[in-house]
Amino acid sequence: MSTAQGHIEVRHIFKVFGAHAAAGLAMVKQGASKQEVLSKAGCNVGLQDVSLHIPGGQIFVIMGLSGSGKSTLVRHFNRLIEPTAGEILVNGRNVLQLDGKALQDLRRHTMSMVFQSFGLLPHKTVFDNVAYGMRVRGDTEDAVRASVTKWIERVGLKGYDKCYPDELSGGMRQRVGLARALAMDPQVLLMDEAFSALDPLIRYDMQTLLLELQSTLSKTIVFITHDLDEALRIGAHIAILRDGELVQVGTPQQIVEQPADDYVRRFVERRS
Ligand SMILES: Nc1ncnc2c1ncn2[C@@H]1O[C@H](COP(=O)(O)OP(=O)(O)OP(=O)(O)O)[C@@H](O)[C@H]1O
Ligand SMILES: [Mg+2]
Repeated sequence: MSTAQGHIEVRHIFKVFGAHAAAGLAMVKQGASKQEVLSKAGCNVGLQDVSLHIPGGQIFVIMGLSGSGKSTLVRHFNRLIEPTAGEILVNGRNVLQLDGKALQDLRRHTMSMVFQSFGLLPHKTVFDNVAYGMRVRGDTEDAVRASVTKWIERVGLKGYDKCYPDELSGGMRQRVGLARALAMDPQVLLMDEAFSALDPLIRYDMQTLLLELQSTLSKTIVFITHDLDEALRIGAHIAILRDGELVQVGTPQQIVEQPADDYVRRFVERRS
């Protein structure tokens, strides 16, 4: 697979939630703050004029405080959210112009998500959870068996395929979530706070696993976190959001050595 695959281009995205989004958008474009738009138009501004290039084949981290727009941004990539204005291009194709079938293909073949809450089906075994997405998109049982067996082993869960999620620890459940996403062989993996619910040592192990897997996979991994240490450890690039605005994009070294403003500096200074 070429490393160029799975690149994402975000162009001037605005997301304004609420019944009067058009009015809210006009206010934002005229320079009103998130708070002003909320009090005057009753709209919640999720993102304001975010433009971003996410290269293929690398781990790209999105950071920011709670409510800064991280999940909102990432949900635009597979069009779980429609922007109020702006464009998103995946591999050069405008996702807003995809029809139903093409959008389904994007979600089933190009991108997979890994969630903080694991999102496992409690009444299905580990095997059937990992197989789920492949079966939904209609892969043959032979293909499912080969891929699921491989990924259960590669995430370190060999022998657990017949277990149910409630028989596993949090770290093991997230390994199942990761295997399920990777079994689909997507170009892009979207990981929204995927490791945030895990205790520190298990979280560190999961970062190590992800880095090990990525060293051979070279997928585009969009990884959301609150934690700068995690971001610095795994990210090739880090983008920082505040109140729906992009504050800085850079390599870990650039973020640490040249924080763009006090907001970024506070993340850097808070490091343990
Ligand atoms: N469906 C929605 N309706 C209204 N407002 C929303 C909706 N989803 C998000 N928002 C608002 O958009 C802003 C960004 O939210 P978002 O969930 O993207 O933040 P986040 O950075 O992912 O936060 P967290 O770290 O807590 O997950 C917040 O002000 C939030 O209240
Ligand atoms: Mg979020």
